[in-house]
Amino acid sequence: MELNVKESVYEPMEDSKLMQKAVQLRAKGKSILDVGTGSGIQAISASLAGAKEVWACDINPEAVKCAKANATSNKVEVNVIQSNLFENVPKKKFDLIVFNPPYLPSDGKHDDIRWSGGYEGIEVILDFFEQVKPFLAEKGEILFIFSSHAKQDKMKKVLKQVGFNLNVIGKKRIFFEEIYLGLAILV
Ligand SMILES: C[S@@+](CC[C@H](N)C(=O)[O-])C[C@H]1O[C@@H](n2cnc3c(N)ncnc32)[C@H](O)[C@@H]1O
Repeated sequence: MELNVKESVYEPMEDSKLMQKAVQLRAKGKSILDVGTGSGIQAISASLAGAKEVWACDINPEAVKCAKANATSNKVEVNVIQSNLFENVPKKKFDLIVFNPPYLPSDGKHDDIRWSGGYEGIEVILDFFEQVKPFLAEKGEILFIFSSHAKQDKMKKVLKQVGFNLNVIGKKRIFFEEIYLGLAILV
């Protein structure tokens, strides 16, 4: 499904589309939080697919403006706020939390919050998993993207340690990289 999305902060790419399909399949009747919303693609798709309530946040104020404008032009209601991960997210429990994070390893010199996931490509993902539990409903699900270029083994180990079961439910090869769509639930 193509959305009416104007030129955005992080233009929806292959990773966005991979996640969008899974969001559309799961959204109906759920309360949803889209962390790192960028253009708002996941949040808007969730709302169009019949989500009960949708919240979206991004650390970048330009992304917040962009997602709000795109929600308006797609005629959907999304609560978009500026937040570093969960910092400003209201203390609610969400049925589905989605995060297409900055997931590429970076050398610290060419960092860009749109794609730089820290030295190992997993730092932002691990911060997210350390903070997410209070916002997740019982039997809630988390969808997130990670890359074959990141330190996957370490990431999987930490997720297990903090109580999450991870299944890879989608993948896509993009030149020399493979991106994965993870579904995490609390065990
Ligand atoms: C790969 S883009 C994904 C954008 C959009 N969700 C999509 O699927 O196309 C990552 C987004 O995460 C945001 N971001 C990076 N670090 C963040 C943080 N600590 N808290 C919230 N958002 C963050 C970036 O500004 C960017 O919009």
